[in-house]
Amino acid sequence: MAVNLLLGLQWGDEGKGKIVDVLTNDYDIIARFQGGPNAGHTLEFDSIKHVLHTIPSGIFHKTAINLVGNGVVIDPVILVKELKNLDKFDIDYKSKLLISRKAHLILPTHRLLDAASEASKGKAKIGSTLKGIGPTYMDKTGRNGLRIGDLELSDWKERYRNLANKHEAMIEFHGVELEYDLKALEADFYEAVTILKELTFIDSEEYIFEAQRQGKSILAEGAQGSLLDVDFGTYPFVTSSNTTAAGACTGLGIAPNKIKEVFGIFKAYTTRVGSGPFPTELFDEDGATMAKVGNEFGSTTGRARRCGWLDLVALKYAVQINGVTQLMMMKGDVLSGFETLKICTAYKYKGKEIKHFPYNIEPENVEPIYTEVKGWSQDLTKMSKKSQFPNELNDYITFLEKELETPITIVSVGPDRKQTIHM
Ligand code: GDP
Ligand code: IMO
Ligand code: MG
Repeated sequence: MAVNLLLGLQWGDEGKGKIVDVLTNDYDIIARFQGGPNAGHTLEFDSIKHVLHTIPSGIFHKTAINLVGNGVVIDPVILVKELKNLDKFDIDYKSKLLISRKAHLILPTHRLLDAASEASKGKAKIGSTLKGIGPTYMDKTGRNGLRIGDLELSDWKERYRNLANKHEAMIEFHGVELEYDLKALEADFYEAVTILKELTFIDSEEYIFEAQRQGKSILAEGAQGSLLDVDFGTYPFVTSSNTTAAGACTGLGIAPNKIKEVFGIFKAYTTRVGSGPFPTELFDEDGATMAKVGNEFGSTTGRARRCGWLDLVALKYAVQINGVTQLMMMKGDVLSGFETLKICTAYKYKGKEIKHFPYNIEPENVEPIYTEVKGWSQDLTKMSKKSQFPNELNDYITFLEKELETPITIVSVGPDRKQTIHM
């Protein structure tokens, strides 16, 4: 049985969590393939909002297995907090949540290193979530990391100590003032590891392989967004993993020829949290309206998200890199009330008009060229079928489908599960 992928096409927070939750009824297994607790995936149903950081977004469904794949980096302290939240809702995660032995561990000193590295960069900082993501992936590729499977070995604490000592020296190297109580952080870490060890650790690539042989349906859940991909994003203002489709192959052990549908999620406008270039960013009333109506605050850090018009140059690039087969447009409801909507269809790049996403999109090189379309005034949030859509929204959708040469199969008109329209 083929595997389907779901991933973000912009700078994250497109609404991946909501759609994974909506689609989970159709799958046996939901598997996260990269990133860590820098992610904040929100789902809403029965008037309750849940935010997940490490746990896949299918966890609230009765039967689906939720797998945290080898490509994910796990902070035991944060994962245990998530488990405690699930306890409040009587979710039987002990039978439904599986963790890959090959997933790497985020140590308390990885978080400190992240903070030291950011502080030493001053104005050039990435705007990291400070969850220790960069330093953990550095240790992974540098072949120093500690993995979930290591927790089953008798000498894991010794290995932890050696790595933590090295990190302390590195923190000092950054030469910034950083106050911390490592003893207290370690006590939390050890306590969380004890709870974590009550979960089931598996050789996940074998599990996925067997599941495929048995005809089980699998949905791979991405984190962050394509423009935060370490190779294809707006480097260095990116995260430290491959957020794009290929990341699902390495992050779960799925062969490329087993992937069928690639669901690309995007907001009807654009947001970004943290530093880095953003050609269509708005600094005016329109941007403020998007932020206010869209409640654009980071699900992990609470930081205000920067807002701007839809950037089709960037979106087309993401569709291409990922081989997107179906698009899902989120938060169309937030655009209700704008008389005119702008869509960036080309860049003026070093004085010339271009239609592709160039190496450098810093403001001094790139100026967006907009196509203007008519907006709609109707409230979309109560709509339940396509036939209720205003003509202007249908025109917006048709325009995007044509430009992106890909069908939009879901339009989301609010944060709740029910506010989802299958086209
Ligand atoms: P993710 O990281 O891609 O899962 O997205 P986040 O959860 O970080 O951010 C998406 C935010 O938008 C969350 O607060 C969702 O509840 C909310 N949301 C999702 N879809 C819609 C929608 O169609 N309309 C509105 N108004 N909010 C939405
Ligand atoms: P989800 O899965 C939005 C951003 C950070 C920062 C950069 C690097 O919820 O879409 P990192 O902590 O990885 O070192 O931060 O990436 N970032 C996200 N932005 N959504 C996310 O995840 C993000 N995860 C990281 O703000 O700019
Ligand atoms: Mg998010």
